[in-house]
Amino acid sequence: MTERLNKSKENVSSMFDSIAPKYDFLNHFLSMGIDKRWRKKVRKLLAYKKDAVILDVATGTGDLAIELHKNKPLRVVGIDISEKMVEVGKAKVIAKKLDNVIDLQTGDSLDIKFDANTFDAVTCAFGVRNFENLEKGLSEIFRVLKTNSKIVVLEFSKPNNKVFGGIYKFYFTKILPFVGRMISKNDFAYKYLPMSVDKFPYGKEFLDILQKVGFCETKTKKLAAGIASIYCGVKK
Ligand SMILES: C[S@@+](CC[C@H](N)C(=O)[O-])C[C@H]1O[C@@H](n2cnc3c(N)ncnc32)[C@H](O)[C@@H]1O
Repeated sequence: MTERLNKSKENVSSMFDSIAPKYDFLNHFLSMGIDKRWRKKVRKLLAYKKDAVILDVATGTGDLAIELHKNKPLRVVGIDISEKMVEVGKAKVIAKKLDNVIDLQTGDSLDIKFDANTFDAVTCAFGVRNFENLEKGLSEIFRVLKTNSKIVVLEFSKPNNKVFGGIYKFYFTKILPFVGRMISKNDFAYKYLPMSVDKFPYGKEFLDILQKVGFCETKTKKLAAGIASIYCGVKK
């Protein structure tokens, strides 16, 4: 049976609710820790003032929000539609005594409950691919950013080397869903991951969408031979 990619808010939030307790372990295990380095690269692309307020959308269990605090902003707000992911994230933030800087909340990136021109930067790691409506989500990010401020998106893409791409595809579509299912006990979540990457725009196609919603100075950088990419844009 072929499963359909259902990105409704209800489907995505219940899928992440169900894997939340195992999400961090699987993330670091299945990526062999490389995801931590990628989040660090996102942080290094952001230079902001000491009184900066940063928004991390689709924050999940808050790993990027926690990484971003190292640049010493005034505040990092993280929003996510999955209550359970946010719960895990909040516990980590409290354990690290960062709850005076990092504020994780449930919230939808397609309908951000903040005023226009609020944030000095907006980030999103492995989140935009799950949006039910990508342009709506990016437009919302554009709206809440202050003028001259930056969006930085980290997302899976596809390797362009055929040999490496073939090996990676085997890992991503066969091994990862198997291990993911065994550990998370969720049948679908780790099948959804390669399916959602396969259908998702990357490289120039993603930059075109950033420009379409209003971003200027758009740039992309491939990570790990194209397994993931970082995208930047500025609201002018
Ligand atoms: C793969 S996880 C990434 C979490 C985190 N950013 C990280 O780097 O580990 C994707 C997250 O996107 C969230 N998400 C998907 N659609 C969303 C939306 N419309 N608004 C807010 N969060 C959303 C999911 O609930 C999930 O926690």
